[in-house]
Amino acid sequence: MRRTILAAFLAVCAVIIPGGTAVAQDAPAPRPPVWTVPQISALPNDQYGKLVRQGRDLIDATYAHIGPLAADPAKRFAGNNLACSDCHLRAGTKMFGLPIFGLFGKYPLYSARSGAEITIRDLDRAADPERGRQVYARSCATCHNAEGSGFRRSFPRANPGYAIPPLWGSDSFNDGAGMSRLITAANFIRANMPAGTDYLAPQLSDADAWDVAAFVVSQPRPHKADLAKDFPDRLDKPVDVPYGPYADGFGEQQHKYGPFAPIREAVTRLKAERPAR
Ligand code: HEC
Ligand code: HEC
Repeated sequence: MRRTILAAFLAVCAVIIPGGTAVAQDAPAPRPPVWTVPQISALPNDQYGKLVRQGRDLIDATYAHIGPLAADPAKRFAGNNLACSDCHLRAGTKMFGLPIFGLFGKYPLYSARSGAEITIRDLDRAADPERGRQVYARSCATCHNAEGSGFRRSFPRANPGYAIPPLWGSDSFNDGAGMSRLITAANFIRANMPAGTDYLAPQLSDADAWDVAAFVVSQPRPHKADLAKDFPDRLDKPVDVPYGPYADGFGEQQHKYGPFAPIREAVTRLKAERPAR
């Protein structure tokens, strides 16, 4: 069963291929890269076309297929009622909306670092969740609501998924998820939120994105078991992973909210000092 789901997922990733970068000869202003997203609906209804559509369905309506309320109890693999596309926007095809297309050729050697070109410059200060609370009230609560619990759809009744996904609480992503890391969350939020934002015209300032991300990651959420076993090479652990153990001498508080420059310096030094393997 897991194998069928993986095949469908990989098929939809494979069909969507990033286009080349358009290089203008004389124009001084850089143009955004061409992002070619083929129409999945234009695929024939053969075996491959069906597999791709099934994969897209898994990404858009994950909760219905593998969520905790999935009709078949044997398929309840996911711990919450989110859809992959709540974070991997437009079914994983939106640039800087955590795209997951074109992975097929690289799988399983893909890098988790896509989208690095326009990341927020590390603000050289710890993020401030209390200031972020005000940004949240101003720019986010109208949709995600004051409790961060989002809004379910009302249809279909049995398993409706979310119209607006939760940002914290019992049905949200867990504390081991990529979105619970400050830098990842801040970049996602700045490039994509409020929903409908284009990454070329962010609506939040870097400072507001930084602090509202801190507010979101500071909120209660489900706990993932065995987090200490993540990232066995501790010097390769991303600096904003909010749970220890760490090899760099800094504690969870600074890893959660920054400032990150001192941590990066320590990691670089320790890596240079460690014996070659
Ligand atoms: C709560 C938000 C969220 C949800 C829901 C989510 N993801 Fe992700 N996903 C992320 C983030 C954030 C990253 C980047 C993690 C990192 O940088 O380490 C990621 C990374 C990935 C990657 C690696 C991409 C790459 O280019 O390296 C894959 C594949 C992926 N997710 C698949 C899925 C699938 C399939 C689902 C649904 C079953 C899903 N995700 C649901 C947030 C989410
Ligand atoms: C106009 C409504 C709207 C506003 C305002 C809005 N969001 Fe969202 N948000 C959404 C929707 C809808 C999604 C699901 C993805 C999509 O369909 O674009 C989402 C997804 C997310 C996600 C990833 C999914 C998850 O469950 O974690 C995060 C994180 C997020 N929003 C944070 C924020 C923050 C922080 C703000 C305020 C700066 C904000 N949003 C403002 C509607 C909104």
